[in-house]
Amino acid sequence: MNVTVFGTGYVGLVTGTCLAEMGNAVVCVDVDANKIARLNGGDIPIYEPGLEELVRSNHAAGRLAFTIDPAPAIAHGDVIFIAVGTPPDEDGSADLTHVLAVARTIGRNLGAASVIVNKSTVPVGTADRVREAISAELAERGVTIEFDVVSNPEFLKEGDAVNDCMRPDRIVIGTDSARAIGLLKDLYAPFNRNHERIVLMDVRSAELTKYAANAMLATKISFMNEMANIAERVGADIELVRHGIGSDPRIGYHFIYPGVGYGGSCFPKDVQALDRIATSHGYTARLLRSVEEVNNAQKSKLFVQIERYFDGDLRGRTIAVWGLAFKPNTDDMREAPSRRLLEQLWEAGASVRAYDPEARQEAQHIFGNRDDLTLCEQPYDVLDGADALAVVTEWKAFRSPDFKRIRARLARPVIFDGRNIYEPRVVEAAGIAYYGIGRGRSVDAVRRSAGA
Ligand code: UDX
Repeated sequence: MNVTVFGTGYVGLVTGTCLAEMGNAVVCVDVDANKIARLNGGDIPIYEPGLEELVRSNHAAGRLAFTIDPAPAIAHGDVIFIAVGTPPDEDGSADLTHVLAVARTIGRNLGAASVIVNKSTVPVGTADRVREAISAELAERGVTIEFDVVSNPEFLKEGDAVNDCMRPDRIVIGTDSARAIGLLKDLYAPFNRNHERIVLMDVRSAELTKYAANAMLATKISFMNEMANIAERVGADIELVRHGIGSDPRIGYHFIYPGVGYGGSCFPKDVQALDRIATSHGYTARLLRSVEEVNNAQKSKLFVQIERYFDGDLRGRTIAVWGLAFKPNTDDMREAPSRRLLEQLWEAGASVRAYDPEARQEAQHIFGNRDDLTLCEQPYDVLDGADALAVVTEWKAFRSPDFKRIRARLARPVIFDGRNIYEPRVVEAAGIAYYGIGRGRSVDAVRRSAGA
């Protein structure tokens, strides 16, 4: 099938590439000429395991093309995907500028009947606005062309995007058009193996499904962070509690890891946007607001503990940080908890020495050159002259460190484990004080036991 994809961000690039891999002829369009030039040169602007090889091989095979020219791309597509960004505007609502701009471009160039599929995460009712924008342009041109607007939300996770796209657990298709259903069933047939993964529904339900999925996952995380904060105060270990509740299949083991809060391009933005959608329809989403509030407080959690550990005075201290990306296997630092930690440390007069396996360049780009930040090339280099080590992202490379080496390099050895990747007893046996999230011990107790 001939497929056109507008937007070469995470969603657009991964979707276009996976569709090309299945043998479709895919043209990806973006307004960013620099990005398109890089993609045509085989240079992938994002770090995503497995993606680069797939882009290169499909590009070389002639099944995947990149262009800034929308007219021929629109003429090419039997199916046209809209996968452009919907960043939050000032009040947290999803900004539809890019989506509607693409809709108008499609309206100005559409030559034959087509199916327009929206993959961007958009407020309920956006498909209607896309339809109106396209119709207005067609009316302006004085032509009548049949087209459908379908909602087909994307559920891919960064760091595992290619796998999620190739082996989706569900394919949500929102439309009442039999023609669109037929076309998309054909397009997705190679991804729909072993059992039926296609879930058909109306457009608005599909649009809400995307928000509901992300809001549910964010809720699980904030719930566990709240439990961790309680556990810490009552002397219980949240990691044992996690095992204790996860075995109930109604609860499950997934997404109940406490930590320094959720970040990334989806959860923070989508929880807020859904709250605004509810408000604009006259409903106060109390639970969603609490989910966000808990997460916001959690992002300051490590800083508050570190400051307390050092008697409320961090001036002149150096804190070593492992992990800057919002989660492992990505270089993405959007809404990353590390950013809050670093900013609070600097504000308090401390310096930071940080290491991340992939996000070094991104951190350099975000923070620029500053005296109170050293971005190290090797994990143990962060420890030189540092007073404490804070673990912010649970990269595999941090899971079994050489504690002796850490102990030897830190002046008064202490680890603040923002992801609970270590066993307190193991760390303490190595002669390092340990604070984890909700491990039954307050930072004051950790300080006392360390004799600090
Ligand atoms: C998410 C959804 O998982 C995906 O389905 C949707 O399409 C886009 O948003 P992503 O943002 O890539 O994907 O990351 P995800 O792996 O879901 O993690 C989100 C955040 O939650 C990360 O900061 C992660 O560290 C945090 N998290 C996750 C926890 O703190 N605890 C958990 O148990 C799970």
